[in-house]
Amino acid sequence: GTITIKTGQRGARLGDLFGIFFEDLNHAADGGLYAELVRNRSFEFDPIDRDGYDSLTAWSKVERGGGRAGLSVANEHPLNARNLHYAVLDIQEEGDGVGLSNEGFNTGIPVREGEAYRFSVHARRDASWEEPVHIALESADGRVYGEAVIAVDSAEWKRYEAELVASATDYGSRLTIVTKGGGKLFLDMVSLFPAKTYRGRSNGLREDIATMLADLKPRFMRFPGGCLVHDGSLNPDDRDSMYRWKNTIGDVEQRPPRRNNWRYHQTLGLGYYEYFQFCEDIGAKAIPILPAGYDPHHKRAVPIDELGPWIDDALDLIEFARGDASTEWGGIRAKLGHPEPFGLEYIGIGNEEVGAPFFERYDYFHRAIKAKYPDIKIINSSGPFAAGGEYERGWKSARDNGSDLVDEHYYQSPEWFLAHVDRYDDFKADESKVFLGEYASWGNAYYNALAEAALMTGLERNAHAVGLACYAPLLCNVDYVNWKPDLIWFNNHQVFGTANYYVQRLFMHNQGDALVPIEAGGFGAAAPLTEPGAIRGSIALGTSGSSVRYTDIRIVNNVTGEQLSYEDAALEASVETNKPIVQLGQIDWDDYTLRLKATKLGGGPNGFALIFGWKDEAN
Ligand code: AHR
Repeated sequence: GTITIKTGQRGARLGDLFGIFFEDLNHAADGGLYAELVRNRSFEFDPIDRDGYDSLTAWSKVERGGGRAGLSVANEHPLNARNLHYAVLDIQEEGDGVGLSNEGFNTGIPVREGEAYRFSVHARRDASWEEPVHIALESADGRVYGEAVIAVDSAEWKRYEAELVASATDYGSRLTIVTKGGGKLFLDMVSLFPAKTYRGRSNGLREDIATMLADLKPRFMRFPGGCLVHDGSLNPDDRDSMYRWKNTIGDVEQRPPRRNNWRYHQTLGLGYYEYFQFCEDIGAKAIPILPAGYDPHHKRAVPIDELGPWIDDALDLIEFARGDASTEWGGIRAKLGHPEPFGLEYIGIGNEEVGAPFFERYDYFHRAIKAKYPDIKIINSSGPFAAGGEYERGWKSARDNGSDLVDEHYYQSPEWFLAHVDRYDDFKADESKVFLGEYASWGNAYYNALAEAALMTGLERNAHAVGLACYAPLLCNVDYVNWKPDLIWFNNHQVFGTANYYVQRLFMHNQGDALVPIEAGGFGAAAPLTEPGAIRGSIALGTSGSSVRYTDIRIVNNVTGEQLSYEDAALEASVETNKPIVQLGQIDWDDYTLRLKATKLGGGPNGFALIFGWKDEAN
C-alpha cells in the first residue's frame, strides 16, 4: 500500500495542542514535585486539613541518655501573623541530649551518599539557654549520616542555615535537632532541601520528577487545579480559603497554611512564582486557573457587588506575568528575582463549574479582562462530561461571551474513548475552541494508553476546533493516593511513567505545526484504508490473497461504547489466505469501530484486505 502525505497543503494549525495539567492532589506538590523533605515544617498541620493531623504530625521527641524535655506547640510569640504555630522544646534534664526529629514523607527522608542537603530554621531561645544545636541526618536506629551545628544566639526570631552531606544512602532516614543545657528553644520553618534541585533553583523542585515532566516537552502547563482551585471559603485570610494566588508568592514563611481540597495540608511552598519559573524552565506556556468567586462544592458565592477583588486577582496576575518592572505587580515579580516578564497568553476562569452562579460571575471576569488585555485568551468552564446534558451551559456562556476556549473534562472507560474519537469532527472552526483540560480512561494498562492515543488522533485531526488538551491527574505519590489512574507515579526516591505517560510523550514529541492531507491506498480492494491506523467498518476481519499479521485488534460498539470481548491471546495472530481470525457472529450490523495494526507477511500483489460480511457465515 501507499500513503501519500501532501506536504504542500496546510490545514488547521496545531498551536499549543498538547500540554500538562498540574494539581496538588496525591501529594503532587508537598511530598512530591516540591523538593522540601521536612513534613509539617511550620507546625501548622491541623485537624481541619485532615482527620488525625495535629501540629506535631511527623515530629517526635528525642530524649537521649537520661535526657528529659517537653515538646509542645505554642502561638503566643509567632514568627509572623500568617505562621502562628512553633515548636517549644522545654529542657528539663539534658542527659546525652534532647530535641525533636522529623520523619519526612513516605518511608522517611531520602538521602544519597555524597549528596548535600540544605537545612534552615527560624529559631529563638529564652535567656537562660546557650548550648549549640546539633542538626543531623540519621538512620531510624540512630546511625549518623551527616551533621552540622548552629548557635542560636537570640531571644528574637532569626533564620539559621547549615549544610549536611550524607555519608550513606538511606531512603528512610530522619532529620534530628538535638541540644543540651536548660531552658527553652523555640523553632519554626524547619526546612531541608536537597542541594540538587531542578535547575538548581532555591525553594526548588525535585529533580527526577521535574525531569520526567520536562521530558514530555509539553507546550503548556495548566495549574494549580482542579477542584483545589474553587473549593474553599470566600475570605483569603481563612485557613480554608479558596486558592488565591497572592497568598502563594514571596517568602515561604509568609505563605499561609491551607486546607487542601484533597484532604491534606498544603504549604503553598510551590506557589505562583515557582509555577511560572518552572514553565519557563521547561518551555511550556503557563495557563493559570483562577476561581470565579463561586465554590460549587459548598455552594458559596461572592455577592456580585463584591467581585471586585476577585477580578483584580485576575488582572493583577496578568500584570505579574507580563508587566515590566515599573508596574506594580511586574515590580513585585522583579523583586522576587525575575525582572523580565514571564509572559502570559491564556488564563482560565473556573474549573468544572456547571451552576448558574458561576456563569453569572464569569461574564464580569470576561469583560474586565478583555477590556484591559484584549489579546489574552480566556478559558471558560463547562463541567465534567455527563451523559445527556453534557457541557451545554458552558458552551452557551462561551458563545454569549466570545470565550476563546471552553474547558471540557472527561474520565471514562477506554471503550468510551474509542467510541468518541470522532467527538470533535463536527465542531466548527469559528466557535470557541475546546480546551480538553482533563481526560483519562479508567486505568493505567496498555489498553488504556492505546484508547487515549486513539482519542488524541481525533484531537489532532480536529485542530480547527481543539486548541489545548492535557491528561489528568499528572502525578501520584504511591503512599498518598487520592485518585487514580495517574500519569506518573513516585515514592520518595523513585519515579516512573505509565504506559499513558509514554503515549503523551509520543504525541508531544511529535506534535506538528499544521495538519496536512493524507491519502492511503493500495491495501486491497475490499476495504482500502482511508486513514492510517483507523478503519471504520463493521463485521469481521480476514485476509485475501496474502498472509497478514493483525495485532492490537479492538472492536467497539459505537452505540453503547462497549468493547467486544476477545481473548487477549487472539489479539496477535498470523493468518493465511481467506481465513477469518475474528468472527463477530453475535453482533448487529450497525455501528462499530475496528482498530488494528496489519502487517503483510507474504502473498499476492494486492497486499491484504479486510473482508466484510462474515456475519452470515459465522452465524
Ligand atoms: O483531576 C482530578 C479532579 O477531577 C480535578 O481536581 C477536578 O477538576 C476533576 O473533578
